[in-house]
This record gives sequence, structure tokens and C-alpha cells, in this order.
Amino acid sequence: MALRTAGVLAGWCAVLLACGVGAQSTGGSQARIEAGVEQLASELAAICPLANPGDQAAFDDCRRALFHDSLLRRRLSTILLWGRPNPKPGEPLKDTTLTQLAPEVWTGLYAPLFMFDGTWTVEYHEGERLYRTRLGAGFRNALAPGQYPYPFWHSARKWDDYQNADTLVFWINPGSGSIVVGQFTNEGRENARINLPVTRPPFDGRWMWTDPDGTMQPQPALFQGLFAADNPYLAQLEPCYRDLANAMRKGHCNDCHVPDNPKRMNRLVLLQTPANAASEIKRLMNAVRKNDMPVDETLLPLEIDAETKAALLQYGAVFEAVVDAAREWERTRSGPR
Ligand code: HEC
Repeated sequence: MALRTAGVLAGWCAVLLACGVGAQSTGGSQARIEAGVEQLASELAAICPLANPGDQAAFDDCRRALFHDSLLRRRLSTILLWGRPNPKPGEPLKDTTLTQLAPEVWTGLYAPLFMFDGTWTVEYHEGERLYRTRLGAGFRNALAPGQYPYPFWHSARKWDDYQNADTLVFWINPGSGSIVVGQFTNEGRENARINLPVTRPPFDGRWMWTDPDGTMQPQPALFQGLFAADNPYLAQLEPCYRDLANAMRKGHCNDCHVPDNPKRMNRLVLLQTPANAASEIKRLMNAVRKNDMPVDETLLPLEIDAETKAALLQYGAVFEAVVDAAREWERTRSGPR
């Protein structure tokens, strides 16, 4: 008897829960999400409007605005999962390969590559239990190579997917209202094309490089144009990163944590530039300290020699300290950017 009652109660609970979840997708929640998206779409169209896809000044303005206290940045979850739609239509997000990006990296290096026309739609997606919003957008495909976070053209397909994109899709958590996943896609919008295809030279295998005039690239991955030009820690970031990068190379980190995703990670973590490493440095130090990283092909801990581990921790700590100091300086500075 007791068991039967429990069964009946469980049944009711299931019904109540289902109603609770269903209610989120309609009425108040939908209106609240729509109002938020409308506000976001109009901010984006105002600070990153459609422009010539090679216009560096328009890009700089958009980047500065998005990176510093924008509505977009405030709306992002602690990590944004970023990438293209699953090649198989209808596959769930959990089975879709995406890159984990910190808000500072995504708003500084990726989002400003898009320009927004102010159009938007929102609907509740039952399968994901998330709101899906689509924003009309175009991609800046004619900037100098060092303005992209890394050479997207390491894969011709990826570059074409970027330059053909006419829509940004954001997946929004109904409870918190924050954006948890972002994707770029071509939805075949009529007359949406605002750029002519650009062909890039073949990728030479380097995620970072030095221009003939001695400038390290990609510049935004060194926080140039993101942190203030007079940030006293800016110049130290690159040499400190170099030391850490050498240790990471010896520790096999580049076998997996690079943009071409050689090990086909479902949730890729990138470490190949100072900006990427800076946004992951706390997790990086933790993972190395606890011997969680590196791992081998089967994802079991991979033994590294004591010297390499010590170098990772030592150079990692120096880099972490410089990153923290640079951020703190940005936070407390006053005056125009
Ligand atoms: C064989 C591939 C491989 C190698 C080599 C590797 N990683 Fe990873 N790494 C992974 C995978 C897979 C994950 C995701 C693990 C997970 O979330 O369960 C990961 C996750 C991480 C994370 C995120 C951890 C977190 O808290 O979610 C960091 C940071 C990291 N790795 C750093 C490193 C560093 C530093 C090295 C080199 C010393 C390294 N990895 C070497 C495959 C690798």
C-alpha cells in the first residue's frame, strides 16, 4: 500500500514537473527573453553595424565596444561554447563539436568579426530546453590575416563557413537568461551577402607568426587593441607566454589543444596563444598540479618528466601573475580607452 501511494505521488510529481518546465517556455519567460534579445540586437546593430568587410576602423570600434562592458559580454555564460552547426542536421548540441571560450576571448577576438543588421528571431527549442535566437549578421572577411584569432583558413571549409555566415545563433538558458552556446551559420537569407569571397594563401602550420616588420601576430591574441596601449604589463605577456608555450610543447599540450583539433575533442580547449592561455590559466595550473593533464590517446594521465612538470608550473605561475596584474591594471584605470 505504502509503495502504491509512493508510486501515485511520483506520478503526480512527474506531471507537476512537466507543467513547470512547459510553463517556462511560454508567457512571462518568452516575453522576458524576447525583450532581452531585442535589446541585444539593437545594441549590436549600433556598435557593430554593417560596414565594408575590410574596414579596420569599423572593426576596431566594434571590438573595443564589445570587449569592454558590452551587453553581449554581460549576457554570456562563464564559458561560451562556440562553433558551427553539426554537419548532420537535427543532432543535439551535446553531440556537436564546439570550442570552449571565455567571454573575454570571444568578445575580444571572435564576436567583433561579425557585423549586425539588427534583425532577430527567438523560439523555444523543446529538445535542448533552451531558447534559440538568430541574429542577422555578416562576416568581416577582408581584414589583415593577423586580425583573426588564428588562421581560420587552416581549413578551407572552415574559412568558407565563416565568410558565408549570414546568421549568429545564440542558445539562451531560460532560467538565467545567459547565452551558453553560439554558432555561426548560413541560413540562406535573401540579399544578405555583404562580402565578396576572399581567397587566403595556404596555411603554413603556424598559429602565431612574425610579420616582416617584426610584429608578432595575431595581434589581438597578444591583447593588442583589447587592453589599453599603455598597460604596463602588455609587453611582458608575450615573453612570459613564450616560456610557458615551450613547456607546453614539451608537455604535449599542442597535440590536442590547438584549433585544428587533431584529437577530435567534442569540447575543445585552446591554449595556442597568450589570450587563449590567459583565459584558461587557472584551470591549466590546476590540471597540471593534480596530474589531470597531460593525458594520452586514451585520456589516461600521461607521465611527463619532473623537469617538464616543474617548468609548466613555474612558467605558468609567472604568466598567471602577469595576466592577473594586467587585468587588475585595466580594472582600476580611469579615463577614456
Ligand atoms: C591527448 C590529448 C590531450 C593532451 C596531450 C592534453 N590534453 Fe588537456 N584536455 C584534453 C581533453 C580531452 C580535455 C577535456 C577533459 C574533460 O573535460 O574531461 C582536456 C582538458 C584540459 C583543460 C580544461 C580542464 C578543465 O578544468 O576542464 C585544460 C586547462 C587542459 N586540458 C590543459 C592541458 C595542458 C596544460 C596540457 C599539457 C601539459 C594538456 N592539457 C594536454 C586532452 C588533452
